[in-house]
Amino acid sequence: MNILSPSMLSADFTRLREEILAVEQAGAKYLHVDVMDGKFVPSISFGMPVIASIRKASQIIFDVHLMIEEPIRYIEEFVKAGADIITVHLEACSDVKETLDKIHACGIKAGLTIKPNTPAESLRPYLDQVEMILLMSVEPGFGGQKYIESSTEKIRQVRAMIEESGRDIDLEVDGGINLENVDTVLQAGANVIVAGSAVFGEETGKKAALFMEKLA
Ligand code: DX5
Ligand code: ZN
Repeated sequence: MNILSPSMLSADFTRLREEILAVEQAGAKYLHVDVMDGKFVPSISFGMPVIASIRKASQIIFDVHLMIEEPIRYIEEFVKAGADIITVHLEACSDVKETLDKIHACGIKAGLTIKPNTPAESLRPYLDQVEMILLMSVEPGFGGQKYIESSTEKIRQVRAMIEESGRDIDLEVDGGINLENVDTVLQAGANVIVAGSAVFGEETGKKAALFMEKLA
């Protein structure tokens, strides 16, 4: 099944509840929640209090993308705040296995992600420990960047690795996805689509609905 995971980073924060309800009503099953620490990535976004507060507004699945150094330090707190899936960066963990174990020990799904310059092969040792792989198709840190074209081949490569593993692992792609290139991303093998600037801001519900048609 294809899933839309709109990235809240591009939402109008003065109307966060409406923005979330708009994507939910359009059929998005996930809300992509980008957490940045100003260290693993240059920017800082938002943290636990914001997540805990929007948790009360919606039942949508919170797909939390942690762009933070040593995320193991904060897993429990993000689960308490309302995360349903937590994805960590391979590059940010001194012990990837232990971090994924920690997420599972908290009773939620674990995802693993890599930056554009990290080879797909580096994911292979962890395939039996994740429910989702997230491929970054831009350098993490900011919304509104351009999709890196070489990501398409990487998606194919990771989809093949997943097939080979025989496990039911979602393949999510994040960064620069819009209504023009989403077909390419899906055809290459992605089944969870993140879109921030192409969905949120103005006419959020309408834009989310157009994505949903592409994902059908
Ligand atoms: C970038 C974030 C993305 C970003 C996507 O660091 O991980 O989720 O918000 O935004 P767009 O779709 O605008 O590239
Ligand atoms: Zn993200």
